[in-house]
Formats: sequence, C-alpha cells, structure tokens
Amino acid sequence: MHHKVNLTIDGASISVAKGTSVLEAALQYAICIPHLCHMPTLTDIGACRLCIVENVQNGKSKITASCTLLVQEGMVIRANSEQVRNLRRNIAELLVTQAPNSRAIQDIAVRCGVTKPRFSLRRDDCVLCGRCVRVCNELYQAHAIGFVGRGKNRRVKYPLEEKPESCVMCRACVTLCPMAVTPCDGPMDAGEEYFCGKCESITLTPQYSVGDCIRCDLGEGFHCSRQT
Ligand code: SF4
Ligand code: SF4
Ligand code: FES
Repeated sequence: MHHKVNLTIDGASISVAKGTSVLEAALQYAICIPHLCHMPTLTDIGACRLCIVENVQNGKSKITASCTLLVQEGMVIRANSEQVRNLRRNIAELLVTQAPNSRAIQDIAVRCGVTKPRFSLRRDDCVLCGRCVRVCNELYQAHAIGFVGRGKNRRVKYPLEEKPESCVMCRACVTLCPMAVTPCDGPMDAGEEYFCGKCESITLTPQYSVGDCIRCDLGEGFHCSRQT
C-alpha cells in the first residue's frame, strides 16, 4: 500500500502518495498552479518558475517552485496568494517578452494577468524550458540535443552543430516545444503592446474544435474548474 501524505493547498485538504510533487498534488485536486516546463512523464527541472508557491513553515513562508518541491506531512502551501500572483505575473511577463508570438505563452501570460508587457519584445526562438532536451534524453534516450552557452547566449543545439546519428527523427522535441505553436493571428504583429485574449477565450471553451489552440494544453493546470 502506498504511503499517503496529507497537506493543505490553498486551504484544501490534500492526500497524495509519498514522492508526489506539490504541483502534481495540486493538479490532482484541480487546484490551478500555472506551469510551463513541467511535463508529467519527465523529470522536473524548475526552469520556468511559473509554478511558484508559498511554503509556510512556523509562521514564515518561502517562495519556491512547486514542481520540484515534494509533498511533506502537514505542509501548508499557498498557491495563489497576492504575493505569489504578483511574482508569477512578473515571471509570465518576462516569458512573453521573450516569446510574444507563442500561443501557449500568450495564453499563460493572459491567465497570469499580463495584458501589457513593460519591456521591449525580444522575439527569441526559445524560452529555455528544456522540454525538448528532456523528452529526447528521457523518453527516446537519444541525447541528440542539449543546452549550450550561458546567459543570453544559452540555446538548445545539436552537440556538434549537426544532427547526430542518435536522432531518430521522432519530432517529439518539436511537438512539445511552446515555440512550435503557430503565431497568434490576433493583434500580435511587431510593435503591438497588448494581447488579444483569444487564446484565453478558447481554452475556457470546454470542447475544442479543429483548428483551435490545442497547444494551450501546455498550461494544462489552467483547465481546472477553480478560477482564481
Ligand atoms: S527528433 Fe531527434 S532531437 Fe528531437 S527528440 Fe527525437 S531524437 Fe531527439
Ligand atoms: S527549444 Fe522549445 S522546448 Fe526546447 S527549451 Fe527552447 S522553448 Fe523549450
Ligand atoms: S518551474 Fe515548475 S513548471 Fe516550470
């Protein structure tokens, strides 16, 4: 029998298997914690920071990523406090500044309350979420791509600049990349300073139809019934 761990998240009593992350526990109970780099079958690396929560201990709280935080007996988690939401909005704002034409990231940003980023749009081709590298390494064990460089020059590349033989052309790296989502056909041309909200309205629709923004499933935590 699996040992269960009891905790509270936003006041709700939660009971999950030992070894579960706080993010997974919240999602199991339909509590909304935005996330981008987390993928259920891959190792969490805490790259995007969107999933931050307050971990309250002895009256003090510590802000930490919930995907890399394992549940502990008696834990008290605040996933949607004002402090968390403000910080999360700033994180989402930075992400959408990096990748303003990714529908997935637009959706996340809108839902985190970003309507007008304060910074110049960078239009990078990568937000360094590591989904591609992890799926390649962990699911296909191909180790065909990896991170190279530091800081602003950090990118995902083939180790020797050309496709290695270990690449099985599965395209999982592309399928799971938030940048692979086609640009929003809303008002997101160069110089635009606001978001159309179209993705948000689509993801609030219970049934998708062909052509809808299905990649918004990247932020699957947003599909919970509990709106904050
Ligand atoms: S297409 Fe190649 S690089 Fe991409 S995940 Fe598959 S094996 Fe890795
Ligand atoms: S290429 Fe895409 S999936 Fe890979 S780290 Fe960059 S944004 Fe993430
Ligand atoms: S840091 Fe937790 S989902 Fe990205």
